[in-house]
Amino acid sequence: MNLELLDAIIRTHHYKASDVIAMLQDLQKKKKYLPESELRILAERVGIPTSRIYSLATFYKSFSLKPRGKHLVNVCLGTACHVRGGGLIMDKLLRDLNTIPGNVTHDGKFTIEPVRCVGCCGLAPVVVIDESFYGKMTQMKTTKILKKYNK
Ligand code: FES
Repeated sequence: MNLELLDAIIRTHHYKASDVIAMLQDLQKKKKYLPESELRILAERVGIPTSRIYSLATFYKSFSLKPRGKHLVNVCLGTACHVRGGGLIMDKLLRDLNTIPGNVTHDGKFTIEPVRCVGCCGLAPVVVIDESFYGKMTQMKTTKILKKYNK
């Protein structure tokens, strides 16, 4: 286990327990997930209980304890998106990438996860890739947009 990155993140936040969410965000951003072994070390180094770190890491949907692909594809399956075909978009993505929700594709590029309302129901169905929102999605649009990320 290489702890250089974790140590750099902790130093950046001056070992402050009050910055632990920011530390988790930094670690998630760099590694695309929160390795459990590093969460235990983070807890030790900032002096807070491991259980507290785990509860934060599992409370926020943006954190993952499982490795994710280079790009996180969130398909909204909230009510508005569901009735406008969100499920069909999800099926198409899973077929195109030959994967299942929550897994990393064999090339390490994508993880597809369903989410509940992302707050722009007027654009339903919505797909969020990393931090970009795509609205009024169709299966054809999905394939086209995915190509942008598949380089
Ligand atoms: S239900 Fe999908 S954005 Fe609201």
